[in-house]
Amino acid sequence: MLSLRLGLALTALLSALQLSSAAKPHMVCYYDSLGFERRGLAQFTLTDMELALQFCTHVIYGYAGINPDTFELNSLNPRLDFERRHYAQITVLKEKYPYVKFLLSVGGDRDLEQEDKYIKLLESGLQGQKRFIDSARDVVRRFNFDGVDLAFQLPRNKPRKVHSDVGMAWKSFKKFFTGDFVVDTEAETHKEQLTGLVSNLNTALKANDLLLSLTVLPNVNSTWYFDVPAIGRSVDFVNLATFDFVTPTRNPEEADYSSPLYEVPDQSRLPHYNVNFQMEHWLLQRMPASKLNIGIASYGRAWKLTTDSGTTGQPVVAETNGPAPAGSQSKTDGLLNWAEICQLLPNPSNVNAKGNAAPLRRVSDSTKRLGSYAYRAANEDGEYGMWVSYDDPDTAASKAQYVRAKNLGGVALFDLTQDDFRGQCTGDRFPMLRAIKYRLL
Ligand SMILES: *[C@@H]1O[C@H](CO)[C@@H](O)[C@H](O)[C@H]1NC(C)=O
Repeated sequence: MLSLRLGLALTALLSALQLSSAAKPHMVCYYDSLGFERRGLAQFTLTDMELALQFCTHVIYGYAGINPDTFELNSLNPRLDFERRHYAQITVLKEKYPYVKFLLSVGGDRDLEQEDKYIKLLESGLQGQKRFIDSARDVVRRFNFDGVDLAFQLPRNKPRKVHSDVGMAWKSFKKFFTGDFVVDTEAETHKEQLTGLVSNLNTALKANDLLLSLTVLPNVNSTWYFDVPAIGRSVDFVNLATFDFVTPTRNPEEADYSSPLYEVPDQSRLPHYNVNFQMEHWLLQRMPASKLNIGIASYGRAWKLTTDSGTTGQPVVAETNGPAPAGSQSKTDGLLNWAEICQLLPNPSNVNAKGNAAPLRRVSDSTKRLGSYAYRAANEDGEYGMWVSYDDPDTAASKAQYVRAKNLGGVALFDLTQDDFRGQCTGDRFPMLRAIKYRLL
C-alpha cells in the first residue's frame, strides 16, 4: 500500500518534472575543440568540460567540414577527433550527463579550404546531397552523437560603413544598383535547395532518432538563404549567431558595438546589425519562438586606435587601424576572450601599469541595450591605443532576460573555451555561462 502511494507520488512528481522540462530553456554550449589543443592558461580540459555540463542542455562540438569533391562530412582534425579519440572522449560524457544532448557541427567558419563548396553542395542535386546526408548520419551514429548542427558557410553581407550621412546614402544607393551589395545572384535558388537539403537531412536523422539544428553564422543574411516557415518545420532549433555584426577585420577603419541587443540610436546605423532585428525577422516569418536561440559571444572584438581616433572612446570610433594585437591566450588578432578583457579592466594589479599593460577605461552600459566597451586612447606617438566591444556577464544576463521575456527557446554561447573557465577574473569559473544560465532558470 505504502509502496503504491509512493509510486503514485513518484509518477506525479515525474510528470511535473516532465512538464517543467518541456518549457525548460535551451542552454546551448558550443565547444570549439581547438580549445582542447591550446596551451597554457588557454588549454581547455575534459575536467573543464564536465564543470560546464551541469549548466548546458546541449553541447555542439565544433567543427567538422565537408569534402569539396564528394560533399561527404569529414573531420577537419582527424588527429584529434580520431587518433586521440576526442569525438568519443566527449560523447562518452553522456553516460554521466544523460540530460545533455551532443551534436556535431559542420562549418562554423573553420572549414576554410574552398569555401564556396557549401554553395556547390546545394547545387549538387539529390546525388551530392544524399552523399552529405548519408555521411553525416553515419559519422554521428558511429561516434554516438545525438545529432547534427548545420553551420554552413554561406556568402556574407558585404561589410559596410556602420553609419551613413547623406553622401554615403547616395553612394550606397548607387552601389545597390551597380550590384555591389549583391553577393549571390542565385540566392533564391540556393534558398530552395537548402530547404530541400534540410528537410531530407531531417528525415534521415529522425529515422534514427537524431536531432538537427541550424546555426546562422554572423553576417549571413537570413533573408537570402532561409525559407523560415519550411526550415522551422525541419529543425529542432535554430541558433542565431547574433554577434560580430561589426568586426575589426570586416570594418578595419571604424569601431562600433559588435553585438548590441537593440538598434543603437542616432548616427543612422544599419538597422539589421543587432540581436533584436535578427530575432524579429525570424519571428515575423513565423518561426516558432520556442525553437529560436540567440547567440552570445564569450569574447570581445578589439580594434587598434590611432591618434586620430580621439580620446572619448565614444562609438562610432573613427580612424581605427584594424585588429588590435592578439591576446596571449586567444592568439587571434582582434579577439580577446572574457578572461583577457577582464584582466585589462582596472584592477589592483594594473593601476600603475604603463604602455600595453595600462588598464583600459571601462564604459559600462547602464541601459543594458548595447553592450559594454573599454578603451585606451593612443598616446602622441600613436601607440597602445585599443577599443574593445564585448558582452560581460551583466549584459549577457540581460540578453538572457530578453530571451525569457519573449519566450524564446534559449541561448547559445559561443563558446565554452573562450569563457573564463579557470576563474581568472573573479575566481568564478565560467562567469558568462553562469550569468546566462541563472537568468534563464
Ligand atoms: C539582408 O540585407 C538587406 C540589404 O543589406 C537588409 O535590408 C536586410 O534587412 C537584411 N536581412 C537581415 C535578416 O539581416
